[in-house]
Amino acid sequence: MPLRDALATADSRRSYVRRLFATIADRYDLITIVLSYGRDRAWKRRLVHLADARPGMRVLDLATGTGDIAYLLADSGARVVGLDVTFRMIQLARAKDVQHGRPQFLVGDMMALPFADGSFDLVTTGYGLRNVPDLDGAIGEIARVLSPHGQMLSLDFNRPETRVVRAVYLAYLSIVGGALGWILHRDPDTYRYIPASIRNYPGAPRVTEMLRARGFAAARWFPVLGGLMAIHHAAKSA
Ligand SMILES: C[S@@+](CC[C@H](N)C(=O)[O-])C[C@H]1O[C@@H](n2cnc3c(N)ncnc32)[C@H](O)[C@@H]1O
Repeated sequence: MPLRDALATADSRRSYVRRLFATIADRYDLITIVLSYGRDRAWKRRLVHLADARPGMRVLDLATGTGDIAYLLADSGARVVGLDVTFRMIQLARAKDVQHGRPQFLVGDMMALPFADGSFDLVTTGYGLRNVPDLDGAIGEIARVLSPHGQMLSLDFNRPETRVVRAVYLAYLSIVGGALGWILHRDPDTYRYIPASIRNYPGAPRVTEMLRARGFAAARWFPVLGGLMAIHHAAKSA
């Protein structure tokens, strides 16, 4: 099925994303380093620095993948749960050999979180919000499981506002993603999903508005890589 059709509806997006991440899980860490020219780790550290997690804090890392952000947060002494819909990602996260804090890892869907209201002080996600079938619904779930004044942080690609910048950025990602997909999976669409998902994504300023509409009055975003990427930081109103 062409990529555009696969991403056309919430249901088709959900099935496509689940298949995609199950396919790429074993190469995910390598691909992330290659596509970010090794910068991804520094962006995640920046998010974790902004989170300012403390010992005993209840933290949930959504779309945790192989657990990078969850492990960084656990180093602070916080009680961290990492959740992902892809079983293989969770297996890889659990298998990581670390010296410091160890998060608890669960398979689950961030569209329907298996936690009571107000269960966490902090919710984080790296490249999570762009992949959900219903962005507003996912933000609603994050708001629900956060305690009053709880915080959320999200790192993701941005959708540049300027048409020319956007066209060049998406063309670049399509070419590089297509080549990597062909080399690693014999399917150029595998990583062309990234520019396709950015095309469908509302972009950082609109995501900030959506957060405010869901009760995160103090939502703001920080440009990363000159605004090609973004970190959102928001605190839930009481
Ligand atoms: C690009 S990876 C990000 C992994 C990790 N957070 C990181 O920053 O490296 C996106 C992850 O989102 C997960 N995912 C996609 N849809 C999801 C959903 N509805 N609920 C939970 N996880 C989901 C995928 O399985 C995948 O592991």
